[in-house]
Amino acid sequence: MSDPALPNKPRTVILISGRGSNMLRLVQAAQEGRCHIDPVAAISNRPQAQGLAAAEKLGLDTQRLDHTQFDSREQFDDALAEVIDAYQPDLIILAGFMRILTEAFVARYEGRMLNIHPSLLPLYPGLNTHQRALDAGDTEHGATVHFVTATLDSGPLIVQSEVPIESNDSSDTLAQRVLDTEYPIYTLAADWFGRGWVSMQAGKVTLFEQTLLSPIKYRNGQLYGADAPCLEKLNLSLAPQS
Ligand code: GRF
Repeated sequence: MSDPALPNKPRTVILISGRGSNMLRLVQAAQEGRCHIDPVAAISNRPQAQGLAAAEKLGLDTQRLDHTQFDSREQFDDALAEVIDAYQPDLIILAGFMRILTEAFVARYEGRMLNIHPSLLPLYPGLNTHQRALDAGDTEHGATVHFVTATLDSGPLIVQSEVPIESNDSSDTLAQRVLDTEYPIYTLAADWFGRGWVSMQAGKVTLFEQTLLSPIKYRNGQLYGADAPCLEKLNLSLAPQS
């Protein structure tokens, strides 16, 4: 039964470029009632993206918009916005979408576009994050969900998973452990957005109408990094997570 206190589920378009495992987990969570969003379409800039078939199986519309067929980044982003806008989405989720976006595109969806990045931002924006964390001798790594702003991987941070680095970790083993934490934190952040708990105001994350000064942390399946009443509410989303 739907909760009358909750806003309508935001119509959600998910952008992917490859495997799409985050997209898959988000859609499954939404379909199982564990994430308050309504995923309507998956769009890929790579026509062969593996995740598209999975999205189709889950009943989503899929769209392929090959960026190599456009002369400029601006033209591609304009065409992409047209495809997205046809779905009238309230939320755009970037899930392994490997494109740098133009300022105009980002501005169009300001405050309603989320990304996940496999590092403890502001550490290691860009690529090869796992190897960079190993090379730096870090003892901790993780992933971050943030609102998207014009500077790559620099928007306001919502939630971060923390993953200890083991002495025998390779980039691949570390990537896999981080990925396993990406699914729950992306589902949580999308759920919080869908419930209207989290938003972006004046370039900052607002959580329950208060500015969030540092991201919520997720470690060993638990949330921390906020005061007790706030965590109690956030844990309502966490309870049914797998
Ligand atoms: C994830 O590690 C995500 O953090 C990064 O790209 C990867 C996408 O994986 N942005 P998938 O396509 O969701 O499986």
